[in-house]
Amino acid sequence: MNNTTFLDACRRREPEHSPVWFMRQAGRYLPSYKRLKDQRNIIDIVKDPELASDVAVDAVNALGVDAGIIFADIMVPLEGIGVKFKIEENVGPVVSNPIRSLEDVEALGSLDSRQALPYVLDGVRSTVAKLDDSVPLIGFSGAPFTLAAYMIEAGPSRNLEKTKTMIYSRPDVWEALMSKLTDAVKDYLSAQVQCGVSAVQLFDSWVGCLAAEDYERFVSPHTKKIFSSVSGVPRIHFCADSAPLVEKFHETGADALSVDWRVPIADVWRRCSEETAVQGNLDPVVASVGGLAMQTRVEGILEAARGHAGHIFSLGHGVLQNTNPESLRQIVQVVHARTRSRN
Ligand code: CP3
Repeated sequence: MNNTTFLDACRRREPEHSPVWFMRQAGRYLPSYKRLKDQRNIIDIVKDPELASDVAVDAVNALGVDAGIIFADIMVPLEGIGVKFKIEENVGPVVSNPIRSLEDVEALGSLDSRQALPYVLDGVRSTVAKLDDSVPLIGFSGAPFTLAAYMIEAGPSRNLEKTKTMIYSRPDVWEALMSKLTDAVKDYLSAQVQCGVSAVQLFDSWVGCLAAEDYERFVSPHTKKIFSSVSGVPRIHFCADSAPLVEKFHETGADALSVDWRVPIADVWRRCSEETAVQGNLDPVVASVGGLAMQTRVEGILEAARGHAGHIFSLGHGVLQNTNPESLRQIVQVVHARTRSRN
């Protein structure tokens, strides 16, 4: 592989320059993806491995980033255990058979990714082949909490009230659901690793709504099981709104913590350990504003990360739809130039 900067940073080896990639780098802000989306639904694209791999590779080429990410959605594996959902534009996932009871959990199947999701795995192989000798490919999964939240809320939710109600009033149902999802995520990630991804990222996007003690009791044991089952590739743990929980995330065994803009990036090394890699953490709104405001904050993050091994430059959450791709290309250039000249 020519470009090993991303994997070097994950392993806290001194990379040639700090690597950059963006969550949701393949999305509607890219004109080529928007044209495709006007004709096809995201799930149809995911089920077409040639197309899905082109989408992932096009984003890498359009931006000049140091890693690709497989083109899928966190909801995709849930079809393999019997969850019925749609991804609605500007809304997100909507589930038509939500989880309300222990019977609903028991009705879910267990995931055999090879059998139920061959298109995802073909998409992984095809993307790896198309990126061959250039940049590493990141595999991913939603984390059990965030997947459970979509399955319980059924649609968009501000405070995840139904999910938290289940945790506090029916911990037995919650545990049964989390155990099923943990097994499914383990199978899904290990299948991706076997098909050639170079790293995996676990998205626990919405777990920041929990108090630290509840995170520790109801979520973290499951996340630990997942990370300890993934071997041979770096493991990245993402969560938005994660400031009060970063120490707990570190304890799950991830190699890299992906944090948002609410945490000063150097605090993560200080609060957890110098032994962790840290990914982040420009506010996506700043990236969508662009210009000098963006440049100043990019340099601020680089300055804060200076002297710590293992920084992967990224946004604190996904790229927003109104972002100019040129602004992301500028970020890549600035990060590469500034961190290369340090060596
Ligand atoms: O380059 C990439 O990162 C693309 C692969 C990817 C998608 N979704 C494709 C997608 C990844 C890594 C995701 C992760 C994902 N999906 C998360 C975790 C990251 C995060 O943002 O917290 C979550 C919570 C979801 C659920 C989801 N899917 C939402 C909230 C939405 C947005 C709805 C909208 O229309 O704004 C989606 C849809 C989705 N997933 C899009 C893409 C490119 C955009 C809409 C589309 O193409 O139909």
